[in-house]
Amino acid sequence: MSETRPQWGSRVGFILAAAGSAIGLGNIWKFPYITYANDGGSFVLVYLAAVILIGAPIMMAEILIGRRTGKSPVGAFLELGSEVVGGRLWSAVGGLGVLGGFVIFSYYSVVAGWTVYYFGQCAYWSLNGITPHIDADLGRQFGDFVANGPLQVTFATSFLVVTMLVVMLGVKRGIERVTRVLMPILFSLLLGMCIISVWSPGFRQAMHFLFHVGPLTSEAILEAVGHAFFTLSLGMGALITYGSYVSRRASIRRDAAVICVLDTVIALMACVVMFSVIFSVSTAERATTFSKSAAILFTTLPRLLYSLPFGALVAPVFYILVAFAALTSTVSLLEVVVSYFIDQRRWSRHRAVLVAGGMILAVSVPVALSLGANDLLTSIAPFGQRNAGLFSSLDFFASNWMLPIGGLFISLFVGWFLSVDVSRSELETGGEEFRLYPVWRFLVRYVCPLAIIWIVIAVIGGKAFN
Ligand code: PHE
Repeated sequence: MSETRPQWGSRVGFILAAAGSAIGLGNIWKFPYITYANDGGSFVLVYLAAVILIGAPIMMAEILIGRRTGKSPVGAFLELGSEVVGGRLWSAVGGLGVLGGFVIFSYYSVVAGWTVYYFGQCAYWSLNGITPHIDADLGRQFGDFVANGPLQVTFATSFLVVTMLVVMLGVKRGIERVTRVLMPILFSLLLGMCIISVWSPGFRQAMHFLFHVGPLTSEAILEAVGHAFFTLSLGMGALITYGSYVSRRASIRRDAAVICVLDTVIALMACVVMFSVIFSVSTAERATTFSKSAAILFTTLPRLLYSLPFGALVAPVFYILVAFAALTSTVSLLEVVVSYFIDQRRWSRHRAVLVAGGMILAVSVPVALSLGANDLLTSIAPFGQRNAGLFSSLDFFASNWMLPIGGLFISLFVGWFLSVDVSRSELETGGEEFRLYPVWRFLVRYVCPLAIIWIVIAVIGGKAFN
């Protein structure tokens, strides 16, 4: 391990940084809307199973690779791969992760920009005493906003610049310090909103929607597993990178469990809040005003926020906190790319951040223009009409293909190529004997790869036959 490897200041520092990476737009924006689109219930169950059986074991695998080598994904796979069959080829898995960082950042920063804009919008409504209660109008405003090219580019770029500033400050002074402050505030606010939603008329129906068991499509299963990767920041080396800054004393399995639980709890809380609003209106109104689309965080929630006590204050605060949750995630996306340049190219952090940021900007501009501003970018549909447009295509590609395939190779590597001594000793440092080690190994060797392969085949097959 290199002498100058930065380290987290404390165990809590690592957990919050990793939870900060995991908890983001995936939990608060994406999970509620894909749950809504997939009719709740069974989708949530499949998602929970995916987190426990696939997500948690792979998260442990990623952190252990990072801590063992003290390197970011490409370097880590080069080092560990050199001792096994396949050798340097394994570093391609790390390379895929770096690429994933670009792809995800490019559309993630666009949505992150929306949260900042809605912070401003709510602040304006609050200061001018306007209550945004006409939902059809909120929908129209949102549509106009995303189709406004210059605004989209400006907000996405500003978000990228702020992310660059945090990453520039480094692991401890930047990433850790920012997440330590922001995560507890986000959690408290969401908890408060969740408690309040218990009294809303739609609460019971929301709970039924979330936890009833209904029919499932194979598309939904693919989406649930893909989302488990996305929301836990797995499959692209974010946790290999963060794991490389973890001290030798930390217990990987305990920390991974805490991160998975926090991430899941936040996602479910976001659903409770969102669905309580959605089910508080009549069925007819619901069908016309709440489209099952990426917009519900922005077209649905203002109605609830302004109906709360101190709503005029809570509304802007909520959006700025979602922006911060997004920031702690974009920071980890950028850190994967930056740490590649630092470790493999020996660049300074400063230079790595500037170059990586510039490259990401080049991808995110076309994405920002693909929501109506530019016809061609808005209409391309390599993955079918359900995912039309560059924005949706990249999201679909990253979370349903790149991350699961990255996860597949990570689990194959750790389960079949890395020696038992290495994985066992990594998982046991900082704690007692790991009695569930055989279970973990079974999941990583068989369950994770087979589940991922099965899904990939099912989708390819399904697509070919349809
Ligand atoms: N986990 C983040 C979220 O849920 C997104 C993310 C994916 C971040 C992959 C880093 C790596 O919003």
